[in-house]
Amino acid sequence: MNNRPTSFWVVIPAAGIGSRMAADRPKQYLQLGDRTILEHTLGCFLGRAGVRGVVVALAPDDPWWPMLGCAADPRISRAAGGRERADSVLAGLERLKDLGALDGDWVLVHDAARPNLADEDLQRLLDQLGEDPVGGLLAVPAKDTLKRVAADGRVEQTVDRRPIWLAYTPQMFRLGLLRQALTGAAQAGAEITDEASAIEWLGHRPRVVEGRADNIKVTRPDDLQWLQLQWGPR
Ligand code: CTP
Ligand code: MG
Repeated sequence: MNNRPTSFWVVIPAAGIGSRMAADRPKQYLQLGDRTILEHTLGCFLGRAGVRGVVVALAPDDPWWPMLGCAADPRISRAAGGRERADSVLAGLERLKDLGALDGDWVLVHDAARPNLADEDLQRLLDQLGEDPVGGLLAVPAKDTLKRVAADGRVEQTVDRRPIWLAYTPQMFRLGLLRQALTGAAQAGAEITDEASAIEWLGHRPRVVEGRADNIKVTRPDDLQWLQLQWGPR
């Protein structure tokens, strides 16, 4: 491995409405300490060695983004998010092309709602995948005993947890392959919940890189309460 930092682009899908959070605004605009969740998330990448540019995919009628200080940051470009997360990511990839990104460039896709990405996790992802032919994702091994449960609420089977991992972000793939995967999966009507599943749909096997369990996606109110406790003064 050489010492040059792996160069990469970033797409942040931030066009969701946060229905499970049930707040007065999309969760990425809720406050965490001194800034909004989205500002913390962007801060995980901005100014980092190797970042070529950052695209944030926003709902077309988003009234909150212009109020953030980073809305004027020249390193950040906007894309119009879509109905599903995959549509928002695809719009972000299209925007990257306008910015001069090439098919062979690395793209890291990271949820707007994951503000607690540690620098060490980002570095490990880049180090372990920088030379990988496919790419991959941060993931966390399942730690609890897993049960397959029937519709009547009774356990059918205890599942071996050893090969089970929880998919986190960032997910890191080359621009051309990821665009091909997301476009093809959308045309085929395949159910795509993250970038890796689109790559799998194409027949490739993304690599998992073990990450920290505290890189949580803020989904429900107790997730934000938990992060607020972790956060402390920063
Ligand atoms: N996202 C997006 N475009 C969509 C849907 C989701 O860019 N059409 C983004 C969200 O803003 C979030 C990330 O994808 O940063 C992960 O999605 P999720 O946690 O499901 O967020 P929401 O869809 O906003 O929440 P919910 O599912 O509870 O409505
Ligand atoms: Mg959602």
